[in-house]
Amino acid sequence: MATTPAFDIVFFGGTGDLALRKLIPALYDAHLAGALHPGGRIIALGRTPLGRDGYLALLESRVQPRLGSRFSDTAWADFLERVDFAKLDADNIDDYHQLAQSLGTSADRVLVCYLATAPHLFITICQHLSAAGLNHSNSRVVLEKPLGHDLQSSNAINEAVGQCFSENQIYRIDHYLGKESVQNLLAIRFGNTLFEPLWRREWIDNVQITIAEDLGVEERGEFYERTGALRDMLQSHLLQLLCIVAMEPPSSLTEDAVRDEKLKVLKSLKPFTAEDVLTKAVRGQYRSGAINGKPVPGYREEPNVDPASNTETFVALQAEVSGWRWAGVPFFLRTGKRMQERVAEIVINFRKVPHALFPMPVGVSSANRLVISLQPKESVRLYFLAKKPGDTMDLQSTYLNLDFHTMFKSRRSDAYERLLLDVINGRLALFMRRDEQAQAWTWVEPILACWGRHAIAPKLYTAGSWGPAASSGLLSRTGVSWHEEA
Ligand code: BG6
Repeated sequence: MATTPAFDIVFFGGTGDLALRKLIPALYDAHLAGALHPGGRIIALGRTPLGRDGYLALLESRVQPRLGSRFSDTAWADFLERVDFAKLDADNIDDYHQLAQSLGTSADRVLVCYLATAPHLFITICQHLSAAGLNHSNSRVVLEKPLGHDLQSSNAINEAVGQCFSENQIYRIDHYLGKESVQNLLAIRFGNTLFEPLWRREWIDNVQITIAEDLGVEERGEFYERTGALRDMLQSHLLQLLCIVAMEPPSSLTEDAVRDEKLKVLKSLKPFTAEDVLTKAVRGQYRSGAINGKPVPGYREEPNVDPASNTETFVALQAEVSGWRWAGVPFFLRTGKRMQERVAEIVINFRKVPHALFPMPVGVSSANRLVISLQPKESVRLYFLAKKPGDTMDLQSTYLNLDFHTMFKSRRSDAYERLLLDVINGRLALFMRRDEQAQAWTWVEPILACWGRHAIAPKLYTAGSWGPAASSGLLSRTGVSWHEEA
């Protein structure tokens, strides 16, 4: 396997949840696969003076147990050789000078500064990095989502970060773009002739994109209170998935060719009027219930959550992409915490046959649907009707199943692993460009504003369900239902 160039990766928020749950394990996996340059170094930063030993102890207790069968004594010991810790207060310029001294400011090595912190620190961190000379030609900065709170704050961050780093040094991460199935969707659409002629309003009845989680907000109550599902998930992950489904074929896979097409989709999203917000958007919040038979508290009982909170933990929308390809095709998007199952999928429902020779089997609403499953398992299923064996002409729904786990035995990397390698290797295609992000905020802002103006309280749903009943109502008006309820 080709290895990366020599690099230093610096994690701001190195003791935080994201670093310990995702980033460090992803780098361990890349190390295990032999993808990292032997001299690649990982420097975690934090405000508490843990020292290297203290940080390694934290990795032993928090990261190592997560590695399961991927853990090996020797690989882990080798990996830890790469890891160091430095105390850094994000506001203190002296700490950056010290960091620059220990890293060096030469552009011989790739320097990745990963900002896994609250977005209000992004500007200060980038300015201090720049003042300390750490924004050289081989530096890259990774910005975690959500970037800001609205269009204005995201513009302010982009503006200030843009003063310190050029656009091609800025990696705005959306880890959903690193998921194998999302890239497979590109492959299926643009690597085959089969689907593209059908990929339009004449043949597609509706598109459904679901990201459901069975987890609640866990320890992130404070963050979530400020954010909510629309900002946390829809503005980023769901809109990016929608772009991949709806975009025109790019002329190449170069970063700007792909990002230009995604931007066109975002610009074609029909803006929500105040009336649309009332009729085509559903806000929900989970109350106590049960997940896998175990009782769980409601959102308002979670730590660091206001007991009278009106923050949404669920959102469902009916969107439309204006243009010849998609006019009139509803795109139903939904995401929620504490839902019945953890599932992320894209469902393309094709139109009915123009003349029905056969009665539809009971419980089947559309003969042909393509289900691209991102989670918990990666697969692509194409549903169609076939004759039931026997002497009648009764049909039954069946599917062709492309199960990637059975089909491809090779190891698949996690989204963060792939994206971290892309950053170190300087590949920008799977990261959001500034204009894409601004456009996504522009589209969601009227919804946020209308919810605020009319003080629209979220509808409560029981933890362990599929969200508020109004979410099914959204679809039933157009005669369809969510995929797993069929
Ligand atoms: C993050 C959100 O971006 O994505 C979290 O901030 C959410 O709230 C997570 O839980 C879901 O990611 P995944 O890959 O587990 O579906």
